[in-house]
Amino acid sequence: KATSEQTLRLAPDAAGISQAADFLRDGRLVAFATETVYGLGADAKNGAAVASIYATKGRPSFNPLIAHVADVAMAQELVEWNHWADVLSAAFWPGPLTLVLPLRAGHGVSPLVTAGLSTLAVRVPAQDAARRLLTAVGGPVAAPSANPSGKISPTTAAHVAAGLEGKIAAILDDGACGVGVESTIVGLAGDAPMLLRPGGLAAEDIEAALGQPLVLRDAADPLTAPGQLLSHYAPNARVRLNATSVASGELLLGFGPMDCDLNLSDTGDLAEAAANLFGHLHALDARALPIAVAAVPETGLGVAINDRLRRAAAPRD
Ligand code: TXA
Ligand code: MG
Repeated sequence: KATSEQTLRLAPDAAGISQAADFLRDGRLVAFATETVYGLGADAKNGAAVASIYATKGRPSFNPLIAHVADVAMAQELVEWNHWADVLSAAFWPGPLTLVLPLRAGHGVSPLVTAGLSTLAVRVPAQDAARRLLTAVGGPVAAPSANPSGKISPTTAAHVAAGLEGKIAAILDDGACGVGVESTIVGLAGDAPMLLRPGGLAAEDIEAALGQPLVLRDAADPLTAPGQLLSHYAPNARVRLNATSVASGELLLGFGPMDCDLNLSDTGDLAEAAANLFGHLHALDARALPIAVAAVPETGLGVAINDRLRRAAAPRD
C-alpha cells in the first residue's frame, strides 16, 4: 500500500480504547499490546481490512491468522467447541494459549483469516487493555504480530513504530509485553490435542491440565502448521546459536551468569528470558554486528525461546 497515514499513539484508557475500537470497526489497522507480543489487529469479518494486514506486513497469504476474542462465548460463536477446549480454556484463558478448532457454520470470519482452511485459531489474550478493546469491538479481531513479515516480533510500542509507523491507523500502547514470546498453539480439530507451535505457555503445563501428552506436529505436513517459515524473527545481523565463546566483532546474548553484551536472564530464569528475548534482539540488532547466543535449556519456556532463536539464525533466501 503506497498510502502514508499518521499513526496515532493511543493510551490504554477509555478514550484510547474507544478510538481504537472505532478504527477497527471502520476497517482500519490498529496495533495493540497483548501479554505475548504486540498484535496488528483488523476486523476479522472484514475481508478488505484483513487483506490490508497481509499487504502491510508483506505476509505470505497462505499463512493464517489468529482470531482474538474477548471471552469463551465469543469464541464459541466462531468454532465448534469440544471437551478439550473446555478444559484448556478453563485452565489457561485469558492467557498465552491459542486453540485451533473447526469453523462453525455462520461464523462470518473472512476466509483470508484462515487462508482457506476449515479450522480457525482463537485466543483470549490476558492483557487488560486488549480484552477491553475486544469487548468494545464486539467481535473477533484478526491479529498477527505487529512487525514486517519475517522480522523480530515487537514487544513494545516503539518496536511496532520502528516497523509500521505511517502504515497503520494507531498503536494502543500498554507498555512492554510481560510474556514476550507468542502464544502456544494447540490443535484440537483432530483425534488428539497437538502442539502446533511452542510458545508462552509451557507444553508441560498444558499436558498436566489435559492429563495426557500432546501429540507433536508433523513438520512435513503444512496443514498442521501452515506458514511456519524456517527463517523468521530475524534480525538484520547474522545470528549464531549455542555459542560458548565470542569472536571479535561479535555481540554476545547471554543466558545465566556470564560476561556478555546483554543477558536474557543472569539468574537463568526462563520466564524472564522469554520476556527479554525480542527486546534484546532488537537492541543488539541496532548495533549492526553479528550476534552470538549462549545456549538456553530446552525445557518449559526454553522450548519456545529456542524455536524463535533457531528461526532467527536460519538461512534466509
Ligand atoms: O501470541 C500470539 O499468538 C500473537 C499475538 C498477537 O496474539 N500472534 C501471533 O500471530 O503470533 P502470528 O500470525 O505471528 O502466528 C499465527 C500462527 C500462524 O503462523 C499459523 O502457523 C498458526 O498461527 N495458525 C493460524 N491459524 C491456524 C489454523 N487454522 N491451523 C493451524 N495453524 C494456524
Ligand atoms: Mg509473527
